[in-house]
Amino acid sequence: MNKTDAAGVSPLDRVLVLEMVRVTEAAAIAASRLIGRGDEKAADTAAVEAMRRAFDTLEIDGTVVIGEGERDEAPMLFIGEKVGGAPGTGPKIDIALDPLEGTTITAKAGPNALAVLAAAEEGCLLNAPDVYMDKIAVGPGYPEGVIDLAKSPSDNVRAVAAAKGVEPADIIVCVLDRPRHSDLIAELRSLGCGVVLIGDGDVAGVIAVTDEDTTIDLYMGSGGAPEGVLAAAALRCVGGQFQGRLLFRNDEERARARKWGIDDLDRIYKLHDLARGDCIFAATGVTSGSLLDGVKYRKDGRMTTESVVMRASSGTVRWIRGEHRRG
Ligand code: FBP
Repeated sequence: MNKTDAAGVSPLDRVLVLEMVRVTEAAAIAASRLIGRGDEKAADTAAVEAMRRAFDTLEIDGTVVIGEGERDEAPMLFIGEKVGGAPGTGPKIDIALDPLEGTTITAKAGPNALAVLAAAEEGCLLNAPDVYMDKIAVGPGYPEGVIDLAKSPSDNVRAVAAAKGVEPADIIVCVLDRPRHSDLIAELRSLGCGVVLIGDGDVAGVIAVTDEDTTIDLYMGSGGAPEGVLAAAALRCVGGQFQGRLLFRNDEERARARKWGIDDLDRIYKLHDLARGDCIFAATGVTSGSLLDGVKYRKDGRMTTESVVMRASSGTVRWIRGEHRRG
């Protein structure tokens, strides 16, 4: 879908792409005050409140499609909430957000906590319920279809190794360090693969496959479905392949998916099923990691932030270093 108005302007053309960074910067700065303080909830609340306020400065008629939960669970940035300073008049934009991706990371001062959002034309982001998603991702430059979630981890590693012209043992795979991944990790190690275990933060984990400096070839394993949509939006902008399948632990989760219009519960979603049309992805580092530097407090009383903002239609990726007065 690519909706344009009479003048041929897409709604996203009227969204100031760089303005999205103000929103992620505000959330990251607010969360950064809680880094290492052992309080996940306080860090998340600070990020949510700051992001909510920052949205009001954007001239958009935005709707949260992936947010902090359903209306009765989340006081702010809940699914369906209208955001933006131009309700009814501004361009209609759907927004997937995670004001603090990595609440535990932030509480423990670990790597790769981000404030993150994706914006797309109305109806173009999958309204993913907050359930788990089985994920596989590979960076750009591989033939379409090199990864396939319907195949075993070993088959996927062999296919990527063959396409890269290396042995399976040369392939490096990033996996969330969870007991539920013990079989996956054992299978990868039996092939001789390097397994990079991350404690949290699979948006950064998936995006790592697109950056040769990380040396990570593949991302595999299950994590949050909302995070899957956010990561897919980023890969739409920078290239790479991603597949995801929702995982349900009980009937309540299945019912939640049906409520959001998902009928085929076993469907394997590809990149364009998760984030269609044009889209924007923006993130600001809270703590430093493979993608971004975190918020840094300088002796002269100023703070620095590092952000990235990308757009699918142009493929432009902008890295933005901000200097801020401490409020
Ligand atoms: P939070 O910021 O909500 O704590 O999410 C962190 C995260 O690691 C995500 O990146 C990932 O998708 C999810 O949690 C994995 O869930 P679980 O911790 O239940 O395995």
